[in-house]
Amino acid sequence: MSRVLMCPPDYYGIEYEINAWMSRSRQSDRHLAQGQWRTLKSLIEMTGATVELLDPVPGLPDLVFTANAALIFGKRAIMARFRPPQRQPETPHAATWFRTHGFQVEEIPGDFSFEGAGDALFCGETLFAGYRMRSDANGHQELGRMLGCEVLPLELVNPHFYHLDTCFCPLAPGQALYYPPAFDDYGLRVLEAHIPDLIEVSSVEAAHFACNAVVLGKTVITHIGCDQLHAELLQRGYEPRSTPLDEFIKAGGSAKCLTLLLD
Ligand code: ARG
Repeated sequence: MSRVLMCPPDYYGIEYEINAWMSRSRQSDRHLAQGQWRTLKSLIEMTGATVELLDPVPGLPDLVFTANAALIFGKRAIMARFRPPQRQPETPHAATWFRTHGFQVEEIPGDFSFEGAGDALFCGETLFAGYRMRSDANGHQELGRMLGCEVLPLELVNPHFYHLDTCFCPLAPGQALYYPPAFDDYGLRVLEAHIPDLIEVSSVEAAHFACNAVVLGKTVITHIGCDQLHAELLQRGYEPRSTPLDEFIKAGGSAKCLTLLLD
């Protein structure tokens, strides 16, 4: 049974602009956001997964995006080192949670930026790692040495797809969703060479964060408006679910960003 870390959106809001989706003139409605977050949590629990909660903190509106807190590898939590100063105070808070919940808290040596499971995703045994916008390529090499695994760095070239989990989503070993215009030619070749079943997401659905899916066994949860993808998933034996998450898309995040798989 899976365990997932989430953080209630009690202090969530658009208080600064650190990616192409955020605009302080387009505020989120906290009440709506809380309802959307609770529905996502129930959908996750309906798969049999357990949701663990990180305490929300006033002044840390993006703490809800727990995917960025760390990369989990067994009982090791490799902590984020956020590039935007606004998110840096999240790390000590999350580190306390990991320590008190039996994780070994670690850092990537050096001063490389690294934004956790937002930019580092396992597909099978290989770690696919997004860089340029928020995480550094050299840090990913350090990460590979720390974990003793193969790392394939992918440059992210489109500011709207600034974390790897906005444009790439492993479903199973050898199978993933991706949005090709988010990558350069080299990145596309790497993906094609390593993942035999790549499911392409359209521009319209990529803008609905189709790639930012929570995958729990055969259940795949996304924001609404990803019908073409859901049809493809049904054909492959998955059970797609959609739930509105537009309050979080205002901050540049959707279902997957709001979760961190703990095992
Ligand atoms: N506003 C947040 C940021 O820009 C959104 C993070 C979304 N998280 C993710 N894993 N893609 O950092």
